[in-house]
Amino acid sequence: MYTLAEDKIKEKLSQKNIDVYVYETIDSTNDEAKRQWKENKKAPCLFVSEEQTGGRGRRGRSFYSPKGTGIYMSLLIKPSTGLEDAVHITTATSVAVAKCLQKHMGLTVGIKWVNDLYYGNKKVCGILTEAIMEPDNNEHPAVVVGIGVNLSTEVFPEELQETAGSLVSDMANTDVNALVAAIAEAVLSFAENIGDCSYVEDYRKMSIVLGKEIRYNEGDVQVKAKALDVDSEGGLMVELEDGLVKVLKTGEITVRLAD
Ligand code: BTN
Repeated sequence: MYTLAEDKIKEKLSQKNIDVYVYETIDSTNDEAKRQWKENKKAPCLFVSEEQTGGRGRRGRSFYSPKGTGIYMSLLIKPSTGLEDAVHITTATSVAVAKCLQKHMGLTVGIKWVNDLYYGNKKVCGILTEAIMEPDNNEHPAVVVGIGVNLSTEVFPEELQETAGSLVSDMANTDVNALVAAIAEAVLSFAENIGDCSYVEDYRKMSIVLGKEIRYNEGDVQVKAKALDVDSEGGLMVELEDGLVKVLKTGEITVRLAD
């Protein structure tokens, strides 16, 4: 268990133009960011909660968010260019979170394409980026980057028990407010320098799928392939069994992590 404190988060932020909103409980920090944007809140803002009752993941899944055992945070960002930046922000966020976990907790996590962080064979962090579309101005939409990290969650719902894990069994040595501030700052700093693609190299180094045999679905058909590389757009280059090389833009792959 830990307690979030707005002043402690702000104190650790060197960038002082970020508005910080802290909650003990909320449905979803991504949903709150969207609601606040509609209420004319100006980006950049950080929404962070000790618990989520309706945490959301990619592909309509839920994100298990029990009280005080994980980080549940969303950044409301207004990228300087267009929607195409959302993919870069998501990819860069996985690198940013991985680096912060290394620096603040001394733990090395790997990235499973697209942007799940794994510790050992278990998923410990997911990222959900959503654009806020506006009827009259979709050229420069705002973007919500939601980050969920399982810090010390011990018991997961049955359907997650095989795949989900946590980083530590005891959070006594983890300054969660400082970690939240560091992640927020790293993601925002990337969003402000969108042209800097140096994170792709880090992403490749942190990838746990490159060189491995993976599987993905094309409609109802499961396809076997070898993961070769990640391109500058975050796409996964794969080699099919017949030697054909193609780039997966999005979707989900499976990989045997024990290999
Ligand atoms: C995934 O693994 O599919 C993405 C999970 C993203 C979870 C975070 S927790 C904070 C933010 N609020 C949400 O409802 N979801 C994201």
